[in-house]
Amino acid sequence: MATQEKSQLGGIKAPPSGAFKIVEVPEAHKNMIDQYCIPGTYVGRSEEESPWVPFGDNAAIRHLAFDVRNNVYANILWIKSPGVIGTHKHRGMVWAIGMEGTFRYLEYDWVCGPGEFITEFPGHAHTLVTDEPNGMKAFFWMQGANEFYDENGNFVETLDVWWFMNHYETYCKENGLEINRQLYL
Ligand SMILES: [Fe+2]
Repeated sequence: MATQEKSQLGGIKAPPSGAFKIVEVPEAHKNMIDQYCIPGTYVGRSEEESPWVPFGDNAAIRHLAFDVRNNVYANILWIKSPGVIGTHKHRGMVWAIGMEGTFRYLEYDWVCGPGEFITEFPGHAHTLVTDEPNGMKAFFWMQGANEFYDENGNFVETLDVWWFMNHYETYCKENGLEINRQLYL
């Protein structure tokens, strides 16, 4: 590209996407990056790469990422018919995007549908429900502990990255599936 278009503020208006090829870029610490940096992960859609693991009688989780250094875990939650995921309190941030159907929290007034984005903050206890005949699916990126309570408000269990890894690996072992290293950041 001969000249780069500049906006009135001086920056570029859009990334310089002219080269449909791999471009070598300068790197002061190439040896370190080559040794320690991983280029990202890829998890395809097949159940061999990550199966639907039952989460209670009416739900399943498809694990996509585990990060033990940051207690971060990402997955798709699938509730198969109208139902509830019990009251829980996050001790970290949650980001989510609806994929199919809708879900909501009894404590809030919004309803999240396909393509819609939500956040959940540490400290609030809430109760996820779906009213859809065909249930819901949503992608969740979660950080920190997730404390679950029974219907009387008694603490039951903490779900964190270790819980989610155990959930995935136990199912794989029981079903003769290989552990997919692409899930581990
Ligand atoms: Fe939540």
